[in-house]
Amino acid sequence: MIISRSIEEIREVVANWRLEGCDIGLVPTMGYFHDGHLELMRTSVHRADKTVVSLFVNPTQFGPGEDLDVYPRDFDGDCAKARQVGVDAMFCPGPQEIYQSGYKTEVSVASLAAGLCGVDRPGHFTGVATVVTKLFNIVLPDYAFFGDKDFQQLRIIQQLTQDLNFAISIVGVPIVREDDGLAMSSRNAYLSESERQEVLVLYKALQLIRQRVFESKGTIDTDDLIKTAAALFDKNNSCSLEYLSIVDEQSLQGLSKVWGRCRALGAIRVNQRIRLIDNMALYR
Ligand code: PAF
Repeated sequence: MIISRSIEEIREVVANWRLEGCDIGLVPTMGYFHDGHLELMRTSVHRADKTVVSLFVNPTQFGPGEDLDVYPRDFDGDCAKARQVGVDAMFCPGPQEIYQSGYKTEVSVASLAAGLCGVDRPGHFTGVATVVTKLFNIVLPDYAFFGDKDFQQLRIIQQLTQDLNFAISIVGVPIVREDDGLAMSSRNAYLSESERQEVLVLYKALQLIRQRVFESKGTIDTDDLIKTAAALFDKNNSCSLEYLSIVDEQSLQGLSKVWGRCRALGAIRVNQRIRLIDNMALYR
C-alpha cells in the first residue's frame, strides 16, 4: 500500500493507474478507523480497480470549542487496517498541504446545510464541502464512498457533485452498527462504560419511530411520532436531545406527515461533552 503525504505524489500515483486503464475509488476519512470505515473501503475495493483512502482531520469543519485537538488518532493502526482490506493508497496530507496560506475559496450548499446538524454546528458543512471538493480535485476519482450515518453530509456531497459537474458517482454505504444497535463512530471512543449504555436511547428512539411507521395503516403525523420518541429521553440522565426530525431525503425539509422517501434523523449531547448522530429510513 502506497502512503503519500503530498498532493503532487498522489496525483502522479493516480495518473499512472489511469494510464493502466484502472478506475479509481476514493474513501475520504478523518481516521481512527472502525468497521464503518472499513465497510466503505471494502465497498470501494469491490467496485473500483484502485482505492485511495484520504486521512485528514479537517480543521475547517470543527467549530470553536469542538474536539479538533483531541480528535482520536491512530495512524499506524489505521494504515494496518486499510492495508488488510486491500486499499491501494492512503493520502495523508498535513493541514498546510490542503490549506495553503492565503486560501480564500469556500464551498457552501447553504440550503441543505442550514437545518439539522447545521443549527448547532454553523460552518461545519462548509468545511466539509470545501475539503471534499478539494479531495475530488486532487484525486479525480470515478467513485467516492460516504456513510449513510452522516446523512446530511451525504446529501450535501451529492448536491455539490451535481452542481459543480464532477464526473464522480457518489455511493452511500449503509450504517454499520454494534451488536446492540449503536451506530459506529470514531467519537464512541470518548464514552465511559455507563455513557455507552445510555447513548443507546437515540437508536431506540429512531427504532420506535420506524416501528410505528411500519405498523401504521394510514398516514401518520410526524409531530406525534417525534413527541413519543423524544419522551424516551426524559428518563435519561446523561443524554440530551439536540434534535429529532423526520425529513424528506432529497430536500432535508421537515415533513408534517410521513410520506415517500423520508428519514428520521437525530443528534444527542452526552454529558455536554460528546455529540453523536444517527438516522433511519422510514420506508422499505
Ligand atoms: O465524514 C468524515 O469523516 C468527514 O466529514 C469527511 C467526509 C472525511 C470530510 O472531512
